[in-house]
Amino acid sequence: MRSTFGVCLRLQVLCPLFIFVLAIPVTVMAQTDPGLRRGSAGAGNPFRNLTGGELAAFSFGKDVFQEVDSVTGTLSAAGGLGPRFNLDSCSGCHAFPEVGGSAPAINPQIAVATKAGAKNAVPWFLSISGPVRVARFVRNAAGGPDGGVHDLFTISGRSDAAGCNLTQPDFEAARAANNVVFRIPTPLFGAGLIEAIDDAAIVSNAADNRERKAALGISGHVNRNDNDGSLTRFGWKAQNKSLSIFAGEAYNVEQGVTNDIFPNERESTAGCRFNATPEDHIDPNGGRRNRPATTPSDVLGFVFFMRFLDAPARGASSTSVRNGEATFKSVGCALCHTPSLPTASNMTDSLSRVDVDLFSDLLVHKMGSGLADGIAQGFASGDEFRTAPLWGLGQRIFYLHDGRTKDLAEAISAHASSGSEANRVTSNYNSLPAQPKQDLLNFLRSL
Ligand code: HEC
Ligand code: HEC
Repeated sequence: MRSTFGVCLRLQVLCPLFIFVLAIPVTVMAQTDPGLRRGSAGAGNPFRNLTGGELAAFSFGKDVFQEVDSVTGTLSAAGGLGPRFNLDSCSGCHAFPEVGGSAPAINPQIAVATKAGAKNAVPWFLSISGPVRVARFVRNAAGGPDGGVHDLFTISGRSDAAGCNLTQPDFEAARAANNVVFRIPTPLFGAGLIEAIDDAAIVSNAADNRERKAALGISGHVNRNDNDGSLTRFGWKAQNKSLSIFAGEAYNVEQGVTNDIFPNERESTAGCRFNATPEDHIDPNGGRRNRPATTPSDVLGFVFFMRFLDAPARGASSTSVRNGEATFKSVGCALCHTPSLPTASNMTDSLSRVDVDLFSDLLVHKMGSGLADGIAQGFASGDEFRTAPLWGLGQRIFYLHDGRTKDLAEAISAHASSGSEANRVTSNYNSLPAQPKQDLLNFLRSL
């Protein structure tokens, strides 16, 4: 080998050819993320066996989920946007591969920054081909814990917000002080199924395989609401209890629309309030836009849409995919990414007593210094995250809570850092030969 290479060095012209030939087997051997799965989205549809009423509720909900908000409702179908916001529709952030999903390939936050005359600067952590991001500050100005969402944009300068004068948070200062962390949208396909899993099923699954988990250094625990003690499961830290609460919170926090669940504006600066609150509500007097009082609020619409939204379909299987699934279990990924949890008896047939193939235990785990964001929520501390459900993974563009990578192999490597419960499982994975690693990636892309 050495002497052949020596010849190559001497006959300089042939060198590139020689290196090229050598490189072929290397690229074939090294495992690579096969990338975004092609073909139909296999997501975004309602469950197949909904009743007529449920289907109507889903359609109404999908409609309001895609509604674009303007400040007073004069520039789009609905009002209530701002004074501060991250985007002007649910479906803009929950977009890919279909309405209800995660961040799309083109970040809509770039365009909304200057929409309708708005004067927002695009913060340094956004780019046109990067993920939709929401920002939290770790500490407040006084140096105490903050943790809250700081909206990126204001309505100042918009033609429907005359007289409002607000400034954006100082994200450059936050960057210099290492005080800002990010989250990307979680996909909502099958969210109703996640909601329908009994608390008891999550608690009992946590106790399964105790010895194997202990041997690999995996513990994890449920997150709970620190007010009433109830088990919480939605969001990157499993910080929220229900789709209703998440919908009310998202409408208020992401879009600035006050509603029955989050009735007050987060920003009270004079001259920036244009509507009576709550802006979205069930109106006992006949509903906005002349809807009868029996018409649900937007928030209830969001809940219906998410609850009746079917789980993502899996891609084609193959020998490699089946081998990868077995490896996923044998190296220990499945000890956190529980392949399936059952729902309890539910008033909706599609949600009742079914297995939910979410690939998550819905627990929070210590993920080490490399992933830690320093934000505590409920009983999840600064380095703890909910095991991300892996269903739909094959058609997601960005991975991990802050969307730091598009590459599945990198998402796996990020599981290992000082203090992570996944360190031993990650090293099991790292010590596999190339083919089983490739099978595992192929399996993940089939989800
Ligand atoms: C600016 C982008 C953005 C907009 C607009 C937005 N979301 Fe989200 N959504 C996110 C992010 C980011 C998360 C993860 C939040 C976290 O865990 O801190 C999320 C998470 C969720 C979740 C949790 C799902 C799960 O399983 O974890 C629900 C439910 C949700 N959003 C519903 C909505 C609804 C309903 C709307 C419209 C009212 C909406 N979102 C608008 C960015 C957005
Ligand atoms: C100790 C529990 C644990 C183990 C073991 C574990 N994971 Fe994870 N996994 C998590 C958590 C928690 C996250 C979310 C981390 C974050 O976003 O900061 C995650 C995220 C992921 C993601 C990104 C998903 C997304 O939505 O962005 C992939 C892919 C993934 N895991 C695959 C694997 C594979 C493959 C293995 C085995 C080699 C594995 N995980 C082992 C807990 C675990």
